[in-house]
Amino acid sequence: EHTKFVKAEDCNYYGGRRYPKLVTEAVFDAMKTFEVRDDDIWLLTYPKAGTTWMMEIIHHILDHGIEGYKISTTDRALYPEYVKPRGPSNYELLKEAPSPRFIASHLPGHLLPPQIHEHRAKIIYVARNAKDVAVSMYYHHKVDPMIPKYQSWEEFYDAFINNDVIFGSWADHTLYWWNRRFEDNVMFVTYKQMKKDLAGMVSQVARFLDISLENQIKGIADKCTFQNMKKNAPRQHPNILGAFKVDQSQSPFVRKGKVGSWKSQFTVAQNDLFDERYKEWIGDSGLTFTA
Ligand code: A3P
Repeated sequence: EHTKFVKAEDCNYYGGRRYPKLVTEAVFDAMKTFEVRDDDIWLLTYPKAGTTWMMEIIHHILDHGIEGYKISTTDRALYPEYVKPRGPSNYELLKEAPSPRFIASHLPGHLLPPQIHEHRAKIIYVARNAKDVAVSMYYHHKVDPMIPKYQSWEEFYDAFINNDVIFGSWADHTLYWWNRRFEDNVMFVTYKQMKKDLAGMVSQVARFLDISLENQIKGIADKCTFQNMKKNAPRQHPNILGAFKVDQSQSPFVRKGKVGSWKSQFTVAQNDLFDERYKEWIGDSGLTFTA
């Protein structure tokens, strides 16, 4: 059961958890022996936690703020877990990719390559409060054909609190890295911290990556504001992995970009039940979000 792979109509299952259809059985096998390099940068997130945003920041830091918008966001880092319908899979492309590699992944910690724990590659984990993640994910499901469709927010809410959504449980995913947040090669940040002080975050990430930026911090932060990313989003997201077109008219990728926008989606009863579940999920780990 733990490593069982099942193909369903609307998604794939592995170990009883849902994954997008682009995550095939071969991926889970490939990850077991995938070679991690000392100079890799791994951006790890649960979906909708602010991946694209941090990807943009890291991209401009690696580029020293020069490049602009020549390549689409989805090409800035490769997700090893996604397998395009045609051509080589990302994990194969990554084997050949020049160093330093910039890799993004939504895979839960226990399914990442074991070598990631050898404390060499740099790991940036972005966490976001579960309620905003749930709402953001609900809207994302409207535009992504590789993941299940939900008829209503209520239906999605139920799936989320029962950990029956893609990439599994938000809590397991987040706690995995929360519990490792003091390791030297791990930088654990939150969406809220990014919101609060974007320039501060740019300089913190640059320091973590040992890249000195001098005067570019402000310029990079400016490229990564919600407004500027929203303006550039249609150009940046022509499609996902060349696999399918995304109809952003239904729900744009760069959508609201707020902390606490769950408040206009959750009913009081949904919020109460969520808080109850949340307590069970996080136990005495100390993981709390104040929004
Ligand atoms: P919302 O749906 O709440 O607006 P991911 O990239 O992991 O899929 O996360 C997507 C979320 O990050 C979306 O949240 C999106 O709007 C938000 N986001 C993207 N760029 C952002 C930015 N520059 N500032 C703030 N939020 C941003």
